[in-house]
Amino acid sequence: MYPVTLIPGDGIGPEVALATQRLVDATGVRIQWDVQEAGGGVIKEHGTPLPDSVLTSIRKNRVALKGPITTPVGVGFRSVNVALRKELDLYANVRPAKVYPGIPTRYTDIDLVIVRENTEDLYAGVEYMVGDDVAQSIKIFTRKGCERIVRFAFQYALREGRRRVTAVHKANIMKCTDGMFLETARGLAKDYPDIEFDDMIVDAMCMRLVQAPEEYDVLVMPNLYGDIISDLCAGLVGGLGVVPGANFGHNYAVFEAVHGSAPDIAGQNKANPTAMMLSGMHLLKHLDEATAAQRMERAITAVIAEGQTVTGDLGGTASTEAFTEAVLAKL
Ligand code: NAI
Repeated sequence: MYPVTLIPGDGIGPEVALATQRLVDATGVRIQWDVQEAGGGVIKEHGTPLPDSVLTSIRKNRVALKGPITTPVGVGFRSVNVALRKELDLYANVRPAKVYPGIPTRYTDIDLVIVRENTEDLYAGVEYMVGDDVAQSIKIFTRKGCERIVRFAFQYALREGRRRVTAVHKANIMKCTDGMFLETARGLAKDYPDIEFDDMIVDAMCMRLVQAPEEYDVLVMPNLYGDIISDLCAGLVGGLGVVPGANFGHNYAVFEAVHGSAPDIAGQNKANPTAMMLSGMHLLKHLDEATAAQRMERAITAVIAEGQTVTGDLGGTASTEAFTEAVLAKL
C-alpha cells in the first residue's frame, strides 16, 4: 500500500482528479489516498490557501498527485503552486510533450521533454514599485540552482534512454543570469559523454520547435522560458488537455497536469482528464509500478486513437465522465 497525498485543487481540478484516482485504483496498485484541500476555498477556515496540513501530508508521504489551483491575477494570495514548489524545494518541473495517435495536431512525430527550473528566475517574487511609475522585478539565478537543474536533465536523459540535451537560454543579452546557466550546462555536459549536448537561444528555439519539433529530445531551461515553451509544446501535441507534468525535489515528487483550473469549463463535466491521468501514470512509474503505468497509458491512448469517446478539446462530444468510463473499460 502506497500512501499518496491527493490535492484535488479547484476549477476543473476535482473533476480530473477524481477521474485519475478511479483509473489508478483500477490498475490494482493499492494506494492509500490522503485527500488534502488547498486554494481560495480553504482561506476562510485556515487563514491561508496552503494549510500546514497539506505540506505535512506531502512531507510524510513524499509523493502527491495535485489538481490545478486558481491564482488570482494582480491581487489576493500568491500562487499556491509556486509556494508549494518553494516550500518543498521542488526544483525540477518535468513536462513531456508527446503526440499520441488520434489527437488532432499538425505534427505526428514529437516526443520531447521539457525540464524547467522551478524555484528561481523572475519567479523569486522580488518585485516592487520604484516610486509611482516604475515597477521592478528581480531575476535571480544561483550557481547551485543552475547546477542541480542541468544535472537533473542529464540524469533524466540517462534514466529514460534519451540521446540529447539542449540548454535553452538568452545568454547573449543576459550575460550574468542566463550566462551562468549556459556556462554551467556546458561544464556539466562533459560529465555525460554519452549524451549529445547543444544549446539554443530561446527565441530561435521557439522558431525551431514550430518548424522541426521532432528534432528535439530533452530541453532544459530556466523557469520563465520553461513556463512559456511548455505551453507552446502543449499546443504542438494537441493542447493543454493532454500534457502531463511532475515536480521533483531531492525528497518529494508532486505530479500535476500542465494546465490550470480552466474556470471557463469548470463544473461542466467537459474537461479532458487525459493530462491528469497521464500525470497519474508517471506517478505509478515513480512508484516503480511500470507495468500498471504502461497498462494505464495504453488504455488512455487506445480510447483517444479510436476517437469515439473523446472530449471537446479533441474534437469530440464526450463528457469527462464518459471518457473516464471508456478508459476504465479499456483497462
Ligand atoms: P488554463 O490551463 O486553466 O486554461 C487555458 C485554456 O485551456 C482554457 O480555455 C481551458 O478551458 C483549456 N483547458 C485547460 N485544461 C483543459 C482540460 N483539461 N480539458 C479541456 N480544456 C482545457 O489556463 P488559464 O485560464 O490561464 O488559468 C486559469 C487558472 O489556473 C489561473 O488562475 C492560473 O493561475 C491557474 N493555473 C494553475 C496551474 C496549476 O495549478 N498548476 C497551472 C496553470 C494555471
